[in-house]
Amino acid sequence: MFMHIYRVFISLLLLLVLLEVTVEQATHSPLQRICTTTLYDPKLPNIPPLAKEDGDVINDLLECSGEIISPSCSIGSNSVTCDCYLENQTRCRVVHIDFSNRQLQGMIPPEIGNLQYLEKLYLNGNNLHGYIPASFTNLDNLVELSLCDNSLEGPIPPFLGRMTSLKRIYLCKNFFDQPIPRELSLLPSLEYLDLSYNFLSGKIPAELGHIKSLIGLYLVDNQLSDVLPEQLGNLVNLEELYLQSNEFFGPLPLSFKSLNKLRYFNVRGNNLSESIPDIFEQWQDLRIMNLMGNNFSAPLHGQFSKLKNLTELHISHLVGGSSSFPDLSGTKLLEVLTLRNCSIADRIPVEIWNLPDLRYLDLSFNSLFGAIPEAVNNSLKYIFLKKNNLNETIPAWMNSPSYVDVSENLFRNVGISPGQTLNPDLNLFECCSNGKDEVAKRDLVDFDCKDGTQFNDRLYINCGGESVLVDGRVYEADVNPRGESTFFKSNGSNWGYSSMGNFLWASRNRYTVNDGQIHVGEAQLYSSARLSPISLKYYGFCLKSGVYDVKLHFAEIANIGSHSEAGRLFDVDIQGENVLRNFSIEKDAEGVDKAKTKEFAVPVDNNGRLEIHLYWSGKGSVLYPSVYYGPLISAITVTPARDSNVSTGVLAGISVFALLLLTTLFIGFTWSFKDIWRGDLELVELYPGGLYDYRKIKAATKSFDIANRIGEGGFGTVYKGTLSNGTAVAVKKLSRTKEGMWEFAEKSRAIAGMKHSNIVTLIGCCVGNNQLLLIYEYIGTNTLEDALFGSNDELRARLDWPTRYRICLGLAEGLAFLHEGSKQEIIHGDIKPANILLDDDLNPKIYDFGFARLYHKQRPEGTMSYTAPEVKDRPLEASADVYSFGVVTLIIVSGMKIKNPRPGGETEYLVDEAQKKDQRGNLMDLVDRNLMSYDWTEAEMILRLAIQCIDSPSIRPTMSKIVKILKKEPSIRTISIKPEGV
Ligand SMILES: *[C@@H]1O[C@H](CO)[C@@H](O)[C@H](O)[C@H]1NC(C)=O
Ligand SMILES: *[C@@H]1O[C@H](CO)[C@@H](O)[C@H](O)[C@H]1NC(C)=O
Ligand SMILES: *[C@@H]1O[C@H](CO)[C@@H](O)[C@H](O)[C@H]1NC(C)=O
Repeated sequence: MFMHIYRVFISLLLLLVLLEVTVEQATHSPLQRICTTTLYDPKLPNIPPLAKEDGDVINDLLECSGEIISPSCSIGSNSVTCDCYLENQTRCRVVHIDFSNRQLQGMIPPEIGNLQYLEKLYLNGNNLHGYIPASFTNLDNLVELSLCDNSLEGPIPPFLGRMTSLKRIYLCKNFFDQPIPRELSLLPSLEYLDLSYNFLSGKIPAELGHIKSLIGLYLVDNQLSDVLPEQLGNLVNLEELYLQSNEFFGPLPLSFKSLNKLRYFNVRGNNLSESIPDIFEQWQDLRIMNLMGNNFSAPLHGQFSKLKNLTELHISHLVGGSSSFPDLSGTKLLEVLTLRNCSIADRIPVEIWNLPDLRYLDLSFNSLFGAIPEAVNNSLKYIFLKKNNLNETIPAWMNSPSYVDVSENLFRNVGISPGQTLNPDLNLFECCSNGKDEVAKRDLVDFDCKDGTQFNDRLYINCGGESVLVDGRVYEADVNPRGESTFFKSNGSNWGYSSMGNFLWASRNRYTVNDGQIHVGEAQLYSSARLSPISLKYYGFCLKSGVYDVKLHFAEIANIGSHSEAGRLFDVDIQGENVLRNFSIEKDAEGVDKAKTKEFAVPVDNNGRLEIHLYWSGKGSVLYPSVYYGPLISAITVTPARDSNVSTGVLAGISVFALLLLTTLFIGFTWSFKDIWRGDLELVELYPGGLYDYRKIKAATKSFDIANRIGEGGFGTVYKGTLSNGTAVAVKKLSRTKEGMWEFAEKSRAIAGMKHSNIVTLIGCCVGNNQLLLIYEYIGTNTLEDALFGSNDELRARLDWPTRYRICLGLAEGLAFLHEGSKQEIIHGDIKPANILLDDDLNPKIYDFGFARLYHKQRPEGTMSYTAPEVKDRPLEASADVYSFGVVTLIIVSGMKIKNPRPGGETEYLVDEAQKKDQRGNLMDLVDRNLMSYDWTEAEMILRLAIQCIDSPSIRPTMSKIVKILKKEPSIRTISIKPEGV
């Protein structure tokens, strides 16, 4: 897109040559020094003065005060062009400003509207913040506006639609949000509109289809959704259409057929569906088409064959059906071709191998079979055929110095003679059905386990880094820098990785990174990582059969400084089952350089092999902030699911009762040592009733099947289960509770069976061998967090004012019950939207209570967390829950998260914001603007209440008092109201 800006520079230069006179660096007066290029008539005795208002604006922009420009705010050459012909040569006026990439700070001065002759304004690549000033509407002559790469915010101003001379608008890489204003369609001669890399939402206004002059439309990496409007098909002059990495759904409109001037068409990484229509016939100029990472359905057919000028075609992840190889007989200029995971069950046509310019071919993850020709004529450098059914010979030419991945196929033999040196970038891992092939076997012996050689029961890999010792475990080094088409086997043959891909938009490839900045806990694991643009499979070899805890360690260390919402997205399959989809480390860990682990229970069968597949399905950002997209992983920890050693340190701290149980358990444990590997160990049931023994729970959750996993809570994974009598339950499996397990068990006895309509009842518990299962009534999987911030728009839409009020009240009643309503005071200690479930009628149910003291590992960070600041150095008291209730209330009323990104990379904390607004007397600004309507009195009362709750502990009301206020018991209400503006 910046090419256009350069083009403009060039035309500008030409223009200057054609004019009668140009004077560079005129030096007559201080004001004159602003103009680095001045257009005037040399016959005049003096150069006319620069209009004062123009000088002032330039000074403001550069943050230079006064009329004289000090050296510190000097103006570079070719930055400001002044035209002295405009006002009868009485004054000079500024017509072009180019202050790009100069680290300008501050806001755009509203006086900029005085530059009435301004035609071109480039302020891209600075640190400008704030809004686009409304005075822009006075810039009647503005043709080109570039504000890309700043920290500007707010909606895209609709008044731009009144600036009718605008031809080129570049607003990319800012913090603009909200829908695209339809007023932009009023611009009669708009040619380029670039709104990429912002936070825009809503749909593309159909009215944009009126802008017949449009040549380039760029909306990359926003959160735009809905179907693509048919009206865009009217943009018959469109040459570039970039819609990638948004949330568009529905089919490609048939009206796009008329876009016959298109040269670049990119819809990668949306949710577009249905089959790819036959609309490309007239797109004779099309160069690049990217349809990757959508939900288009198979099959492909001949719709691409007419694209004579096509040089790049990318398609991936077609759903359903199976396809023959698409007809590409007309696309003779192809240089790059991706048809990955497209369900193609066919032979590879010979023509593909003889496309003279083809240098990149990715046909991986299909069902291709048949032969590859012995002799070919092309320029191929990358050939990815991983995971197909190709079943003849690997030809000798594939050993030439390029990157070839033929792994996971059914080739019968390798046509490379056994004496020849093998190209290290030829991945032959499991290429061949004939395991005896000499060449295929040469480098890859030992990973295939025979009976009796399965002796490993754990695996620690420090992905992308050197060997490190963490928690007494030696994480093995994984520093091989290769990954284009690489199979690597560790020295001990106990693990390996298979990596494939080329970073298409990077100048060089990079498969390991080691510049992480994490300084907490297991920091060493997170300072390095391995990444791969397409597919990265880690294998554990020769593991004993049984169930393992597989812990994947992630931290985003390669994608720093992003404005864009999409970021790195990838998928993870373990043993062929999908466990993470569209996973964003940054989002999950709530920031870059932050550690996040994901744990899974994974069965390994008799072949002793564990396969962890991380892959890129085509979603997310690929260019900005980093060209190193695709999966990234920091470390892998694999341990037997039921760890057997009980440390002696724990024994000291447990009660006699627990000791007894432990003894029983230990005996049981030694007796049934062998059973561990069959996963049948009988565990001791703690909660009386005889209903919930381990076997039953295991059966109810289908052996803790990944498919039944419904969430991760504090300290454990939650599974849905159905007891044999049909009762649905949620089972929380606490997996890392060696130390606190018995305390947990005792605590759970205390809270089991407690009933209130706003708490989730714990109905059972069983414990043993470092496993604790808590069995709760099943409420569903919607949390308040999901409802407010999840992707389910329908659910969010149900959160109208009365519902939000009801949720606050229910939450208060539940907490009041925990604090005061039962025999003992129970402090939750971790009230947050993710711990509040919503039933089908959106009644709140508090979850995960009763274990506060045991869970209490979180470090309160004052206004940055839900936990009261005083908890850091005091025992937990009920008033801490009141604080958290206050924070959650603020979230419910405002619809804002606890942390919100601000321009310039800063974070705004809701609690601070609320307190500030309260002091300034505009507390009501907090009310969620997305609410269609709300009750002013209720909102004000509840916000005041929330402010009291987040005050110091002595000021906070009790939960029962809060309930009374929310129920509007008259004698109470008045007490809580503070005068405004204190
Ligand atoms: C410029 O000069 C022309 C003729 O000399 C006159 O008609 C016009 O009003 C002048 N414009 C300004 C802005 O002074
Ligand atoms: C596309 O191909 C046609 C001929 O097939 C040619 O006339 C035209 O110039 C090409 N367009 C571009 C942009 O190269
Ligand atoms: C390769 O696989 C195809 C499809 O399964 C089959 O028809 C063909 O006979 C196989 N060829 C060889 C040489 O095994």
